[in-house]
This record gives sequence, C-alpha cells and structure tokens, in this order.
Amino acid sequence: MLKNFTPRTLFGRSMLIVVTPVIMLQIIIAIIFFNNHWDNITRRLSLAIGGDIATIINLLEKKENSKNEIQEIAKRFMDLRFTFIPNEEITKTVIRKKPLLNIPDKMLEKALGEKIFRPYSIDTVNFGNQVKIEVQLSYGVLKFLSNRKRVDSTSAIIFVLWMVGTSLILIFIAIIFLKNQLRPIKELSLVADKLGKGIQVNNIKPSGAIEIRQAMIAFMAMRDRIKKTVEKRTEMLAGVSHDLRTPLTRMKLDLALIGKKIDVSNLESDVRSMEEMINTYINFAKEQNLDKRIKTDINKIVKQIIKEINIYGYSIENETKFSKSYFVEPNSLKRCISNLLLNAIKYAPNNPNKRKIIIRISSFESEKQIHIIVDDNGPGIPKEKYNDAFVPFNRLENTISPVDAGVGLGLTISKDIARNHGGDLKLSKSNIGGLKATIILPI
Ligand SMILES: Nc1ncnc2c1ncn2[C@@H]1O[C@H](COP(=O)(O)OP(=O)(O)OP(=O)(O)O)[C@@H](O)[C@H]1O
Ligand SMILES: [Mg+2]
Repeated sequence: MLKNFTPRTLFGRSMLIVVTPVIMLQIIIAIIFFNNHWDNITRRLSLAIGGDIATIINLLEKKENSKNEIQEIAKRFMDLRFTFIPNEEITKTVIRKKPLLNIPDKMLEKALGEKIFRPYSIDTVNFGNQVKIEVQLSYGVLKFLSNRKRVDSTSAIIFVLWMVGTSLILIFIAIIFLKNQLRPIKELSLVADKLGKGIQVNNIKPSGAIEIRQAMIAFMAMRDRIKKTVEKRTEMLAGVSHDLRTPLTRMKLDLALIGKKIDVSNLESDVRSMEEMINTYINFAKEQNLDKRIKTDINKIVKQIIKEINIYGYSIENETKFSKSYFVEPNSLKRCISNLLLNAIKYAPNNPNKRKIIIRISSFESEKQIHIIVDDNGPGIPKEKYNDAFVPFNRLENTISPVDAGVGLGLTISKDIARNHGGDLKLSKSNIGGLKATIILPI
C-alpha cells in the first residue's frame, strides 16, 4: 500500500529520506513554538493592551484628571489614542483577520474579555496597521486606535521565514550532493542492463563512493570473465569440430573404397550426419565471432529468409510488421529465425490430419521487448518435451521427419542466439495446432 506512494527511483527515495526528517522537524518545532512561545507572548501583549484600556476607563470614570490629560497620558505612556463619542451604542462585533495562524487577533479578543467587563468591538482589518477597539461605557463609546505592533509579535513570521529558508537551502544542497552520488550508480545500472542484453560494453571509469567503485570494478571483472568463457567455449568446440573433419574425410574415403566389397550404407549415412553436425557448428561459431550488432530492419530479414527458403515450395504467411529497426546481430538473427522456419517446414507436414499446412511468422513489439513468432499446424511437441528439444544433438523420436534428417542443433543454436541478445526462445502450443516458437528480444 505504502509502496504505491513512495518514489520508485533511487534519487526520489534518497530525497525522501533527506526531506522527510527536515519537514517533520519543522512541523514539530512550529507546533511547539506556536503553541507555547508565540501563544504566551501574544497573550501577554494582548493582556497589556487590555490592562491599559481598563486603566484609561478607570481614570475617565474617576474624573480626577481632565479628558485631555488622560489622552496625553495614553499617548505618551501607552501608545494609545482614544476619542470619546457620547450617547452612542456599539454593536458588539469582532472583525479580525481569518488566516490560518491568526493567534494575535484571537488573543486580543480573549484578553479584552478578561480585562474589560463591558461590551466591546474589535476591528483588526479595516485600519491598516492600526487596530480599532471600541468599548461601551454607560454614557457613550470609547474609541481606541492602537498600533498593531502592540498586539502582534513579528518575530514569529521572521522565525518561520528563517526556518523555511534554511531548509530550502539544505534541500537544495542535498539535491546537488545526491545527484553527484547517484550518477555512478546510474551509469553502473545502464552498463549492467546493456551487458544483460548481450551488448558490448566499454570500460567504465570507477567513480563515486568506495562501495560503488568496488561494485564497478567487480562488474568489469565479471564482464571480462563472462566474455572470455563464452569465447573459449565457442573456440574450443570450433577447434574440436575442425579437427574432426580430417579423420572424417579419411573415413569417407575408406568407406568409398570398402563400399565396393561390402554394404556400408549405414556407416556412410552416420558419417554424413557427423559431417553435417560438425559443419553446422563450425558455421555457427564463425558467424558468432564476426557478427556485430547494427540497426536492422527485421521485417526485411524475414522477407529475405522466406525468399531463400521458398525453394521448398511452401507458402509461408508473413505477418511480421515491426514499426522500426532494432539493434541486433543480423546474420545470427537470420539463422535463429530460419532454424525455426526450417523446423516448421520439416515437421508440419507430419500433420496426422493431412490438413492444409500453415506456417506463419508474426511479430509483436512492446516498450521493453520484441517477439518474433513462428507458428505451424504440424504435430507440435508435447509440453513435457520442450526442454529435451533444446538439448544439443537431441532429436525427438515422435516427430522425426522422414523427409529430411537433421542433426538436432537447430533449436539449440536459435536459443543460444536469442540468449546472446539478452533474450530467450520459448516453445508453446500454437493456437493453430502445432508448435509456437517465440523469439523474445529485449530492446
Ligand atoms: N515445428 C516443430 N514441430 C514439431 N517438432 C519439432 C518442431 N521443431 C522442432 N521439433 C522437434 O524438436 C527436435 C529438435 O529440433 P532441432 O531444430 O533442434 O533439431 P533438428 O531439426 O532435428 O535438426 P537441425 O535443425 O539441426 O537440422 C526435432 O528433432 C523435432 O523432433
Ligand atoms: Mg531444426
């Protein structure tokens, strides 16, 4: 639940970690400050003005000094001006500012109630930086004008400004620092993503905090090891295959000679298929070493494959329509797709119902990956045998094509190519009946 509201990026989360305490601290300080300090101060200010007004009323009522003298006292010592309007009645009103934190005006209202036991009205809005207070006496209305400063403590506003200002500066500094710290992590994740997709990655210069540097160095070492392992494996197998060619050729020659005396046709066919296996692998290894990733129009590749394969006399439904070009190794991908198509061509005619053979190649693209899908309405492969089909040199008994023998490397190689691109090759049941082979490539 909370997950939905927290930011997803590392930067967002780090900012949250920095900003939340700052804001919490401010809120707590503000609450304590407004509740206690500001409350107290404004209350005292208001009580003082209330007291002054009460004193003036008292002096007026005693009539020991003239009104002018009292006005003079009020002006000089209390910073209060008043006028007396005889024979008037006030309506008991309170006009005060209504914003959120209007403690001073509220306090003034309260303090007057406590000090002057007479009807009064307050207006803190309509007199600029003056506050108007009217008090009802028995013989008229006493009208006071006092400076706002007497009821308001400006330190609160200054305090809030300082608080918000300094935290904005702090957050700004945090953003700069965080951005710098996160840059190397971002770089590392980009490179890791590329490597995952099988794209060549250049060396990255270790930078940032020690832990990140270590991760970068370890990552580069891992990249080198993976690269070496793959290269060694391909090279070694290619070497073995290559070396096997010579004795095989010799065996073929020998068989040709013996063949005149006894029947060696079985042996000959074994030798032929061994030769085929070796050639298939050597070709694959060669392509792997040469192929580089370039922006490729996959639609075009599919068209090419179909054109080249059409000698078999099958019609293939082509529904491939990628909207743009993608970075792939064109020759490898071509082999990958054509292996699947060749399988469909080879095994779909095994269809027991002798229905019309359908072979379809289609595409799918999303933001993160593209699919190249080969469907057929042949016998398909039972679900539990999907893994066996990928085992090198393994052919599945029930679908062995009478037409064309194979060596059992097609699917292995196709999967390998998809994986080299950081993707995969998946088998499933096609909704037209046979096998559905899906090449999934990340983009
Ligand atoms: N479209 C398909 N329909 C039915 N079975 C299939 C299909 N594709 C592959 N298979 C089965 O999976 C096995 C492995 O396929 P794979 O392409 O690896 O080898 P192959 O076709 O026998 O030989 P190669 O492709 O090396 O000439 C095949 O022998 C076949 O039994
Ligand atoms: Mg095959």
